[in-house]
Amino acid sequence: MDCDIAVIGGTGLYGADWIEGPDEVTLGTPYGAVTLVRGRCAGRAVAFLPRHGSGHTVPPHRIPYRANLWALGRLGVRRVFATAACGSLREALAPGSLALCDQFLDWTRGRPSTFFDGEDGVVRHTDMTEPYCPELRGLLAAAARDLGLALAPRATYVCTEGPRFETPAEIRAYASLGGDLVGMTGVPEVVLAREAGLCYASVAIATNYAAGLAGRPLDHSEVVAAMTSSMAAVRRLLVATIQRLDRAPCASCPPAPGPLRPGPADGASGPPAG
Ligand code: HPA
Repeated sequence: MDCDIAVIGGTGLYGADWIEGPDEVTLGTPYGAVTLVRGRCAGRAVAFLPRHGSGHTVPPHRIPYRANLWALGRLGVRRVFATAACGSLREALAPGSLALCDQFLDWTRGRPSTFFDGEDGVVRHTDMTEPYCPELRGLLAAAARDLGLALAPRATYVCTEGPRFETPAEIRAYASLGGDLVGMTGVPEVVLAREAGLCYASVAIATNYAAGLAGRPLDHSEVVAAMTSSMAAVRRLLVATIQRLDRAPCASCPPAPGPLRPGPADGASGPPAG
């Protein structure tokens, strides 16, 4: 069964209980094997991949981003919805707020972050003018309106390396650069999706005010608790958006700038569709 829609679940979204007929599959990729769940949602074939693993055992800097996106491409996925727990840099985005990322600032370091590593002798640069698919963002916004859910239509996502939280000085710097929310996993996920020519949208959930803004130390259990209380709304939003998706190709996102070439150790066939 080919799936053209995928959901990548962040902190708090691990279970596949919103998918009918879940079926776990493991796919080989040039970057390692990936286990994910396939099934149906709102009458459509979907794939679900909890990025931290189903028991939240994989920290942000060890997530196999390239393997994950490659595996989704092998399944035939064209559209990816992601969720992302975030610290808020803005008073107006109080904990519990939902927002659609529309830009990012990349403060990660040392993560493998491209399919185009030049091993095939070809230099490729990928346009990032609209990293997050405008059509998917529009559908999410429309679904949120129908459901009566507050969803900020734009947010600049700052991605840090983690796994530590930020210092208050870093948060002040990110806010002055235009960041609205801070998380640890959105990059390179969105970059790899664009390189593969996949539409990608990220629903950010503000789980806490970022370091220095809440007047007390941060704690991961606070993030998990806030995500747990937002999860029902996020799932409703995803299901209502998937219901609205038509099958026509996206008219907004540019195709991949070139074929994705596996390295010499590749045992897998069928790279993500470009
Ligand atoms: N910083 C980074 N990542 C996060 C935060 C934060 O404050 N909250 C949830 N994910």
